[in-house]
Amino acid sequence: MSVHIGAKPGEIAETVLMPGDPYRARWAAETFLKGAKLVNEVRGMLGYTGTWRGHPVTIQGSGMGMPSLSIYANELMAEYGAQTLIRIGSCGGMQPHVGIRDVIIAMTASTITSPSSGIFREVNFAPAADWSLLRAAVASAEKKGAKTHVGGIYSSDVFYAERPDLDEQMVRHGILGVEMEAAELYTLAARHKRRALAVLTVSDHLQTGEALPSEDRERTFGDMVEIALEAAFT
Ligand code: HPA
Repeated sequence: MSVHIGAKPGEIAETVLMPGDPYRARWAAETFLKGAKLVNEVRGMLGYTGTWRGHPVTIQGSGMGMPSLSIYANELMAEYGAQTLIRIGSCGGMQPHVGIRDVIIAMTASTITSPSSGIFREVNFAPAADWSLLRAAVASAEKKGAKTHVGGIYSSDVFYAERPDLDEQMVRHGILGVEMEAAELYTLAARHKRRALAVLTVSDHLQTGEALPSEDRERTFGDMVEIALEAAFT
């Protein structure tokens, strides 16, 4: 047990998928894993371990935002020895060519600030995905025929943003989408010498105001889970 995860030693796999939503962790575990067993329910942040094509996999909710993800990612790496951590989640599209339901594979994640900002002081550290995971995820997405974009995303501290000028600069600099967790996951993975990636589904669009109807979410999110699993074991 760690402070926020109730799993016993050995109950967390080396490969961990991290959706923000604990109910999506349950859905993904029940849909994609064999023999999925609940290994954590502290604070309702559900985590399941099972197997995918014979490989042990844990799917653990991260909560919303970098401070919450940081708690789970730190404990998974430092206390349970997680080696490969892949965020699966939704994001807001920021470019005209990025559509609802498209998949974004995040090469880099820009931030204004993250829980790790304090240690970097004047350095603007560039949180980046693990290359081997990124390459494998792109190959898997292409094989699936999923409409996929690979590039930079923006990890924001707020969902209800009050800085339209900032969004404008992100768009101007080619940022594909906005979410709230990847930059800290990439930074922590770098610090602990682990592999990390974020595979995202565009659930809404900042420019068009379009949003994915809830009945469509499962199917489109399914592609993202399979891409993450294939990437982890390539
Ligand atoms: N902003 C931040 N995070 C998000 C968004 C958004 O528009 N959509 C999904 N996650």
